[in-house]
Amino acid sequence: MNTKQLFIQTIGCQMNVYDSEQIVSLLKPLWYVSTDALDRADLVVLNTCAIREKAVQKAFSFLGRLAELKRKNPRMIIAVGGCVAQQEGRSMLKRAPILDIVFGTQAVGRLPGMIRRVEARRCRIIDVAVTDGVEEFDIPDADREREGASRFVTIMQGCDNFCTYCVVPYVRGREFSRRPGRILCEIEALVDAGVREVTLLGQNVNSYGKKEGLIPFEALLARINAVDGLHRIRFTTSHPKDLSPGLMSAFADLEKLCAHIHLPVQSGSNAVLNRMHRRYTREDYLEKVRRLRELRPDIAVTSDIIVGFPGESRADFEATLDLVREIEFDGLFAFMYSDRPNAPAARFPDKVTEGEKKERLQELLTLQEQYT
Ligand code: SAH
Ligand code: SF4
Ligand code: F3S
Repeated sequence: MNTKQLFIQTIGCQMNVYDSEQIVSLLKPLWYVSTDALDRADLVVLNTCAIREKAVQKAFSFLGRLAELKRKNPRMIIAVGGCVAQQEGRSMLKRAPILDIVFGTQAVGRLPGMIRRVEARRCRIIDVAVTDGVEEFDIPDADREREGASRFVTIMQGCDNFCTYCVVPYVRGREFSRRPGRILCEIEALVDAGVREVTLLGQNVNSYGKKEGLIPFEALLARINAVDGLHRIRFTTSHPKDLSPGLMSAFADLEKLCAHIHLPVQSGSNAVLNRMHRRYTREDYLEKVRRLRELRPDIAVTSDIIVGFPGESRADFEATLDLVREIEFDGLFAFMYSDRPNAPAARFPDKVTEGEKKERLQELLTLQEQYT
């Protein structure tokens, strides 16, 4: 059987990167090998992100490029997955007539079956089904032989926090943690294949296992720390409200855990934090960072901040600048607030103008340059 060429384009967070890696592995038994040459691809998979309007536009502009290619090569199969696919569902097929497959965030394991069907008889398929569980699927062992000593491992999916600006709970579904045994098996297999560092992924790893009554996140970390041959452990993302004393202590106790925490604060104003539904205060945040630095003096703290959330006054923004000065983050990702169709903040009054958002973003980035 001749091999076929797979081009995979990934937009968005590390979860999408992990999903794309899974897709590459899952498609090997169907004779697909990865290529960097888009014009020679037999199958193009676009993995999308819906977090901000810009990311959505990126996906549609890539589809525009594909339309051109598909005219030249009508046999090219085009599949769109990820968070935009989940959000748009069937309307995606209408909006982009070149699409053969639309698959949602929980349909990754079913993608090979969909591709087989399209190969056999050109049809259009949509699968954006979501359930409350997590579908575990086996990755063929040989397909783990990829280059590089560092790998992502998703330990939980979805999110139940419903921050008022955020689309994730609507496109990734309910929070659900994978069982420790499955996670450890996956990591042990990676280590056998030469991997030395893993980054554990979840929208809110600090609440790992709570809902299902599994072991707490710090206990999972301790078990991973004991895996022979593994050198380094990282994780992302942590929600400040769930950063427990036990997890903070892990930074002092576990020698393989890297001295870095990404702890998105979003705003330094309590009024804004409250309307964002973040469920911690500026004071809670400062105290947690102080404690982390006490336990692990060399810890690097990085964060995300949104500027121009609806109703953010100049004084609210000043409070954010003030917090940035107080903490001196080692790295900062700053975003202009963007309305998301499903998220409640889209309907909040007192929107900040685009011009004002741009100015605030610039001011924040200029301040942060002093510390990075
Ligand atoms: N689960 C992670 C965040 C995932 S989204 C957490 O809770 O920290 C990554 C970042 O995108 C967020 O931290 C936030 O700063 C930003 N973001 C999310 N929704 C946004 C929106 N509507 N507009 C602008 N930035 C947004
Ligand atoms: Fe979005 Fe909040 Fe969940 Fe993070 S914790 S994914 S920001 S809803
Ligand atoms: Fe984007 Fe989906 Fe990740 S919306 S940030 S790819 S969970």
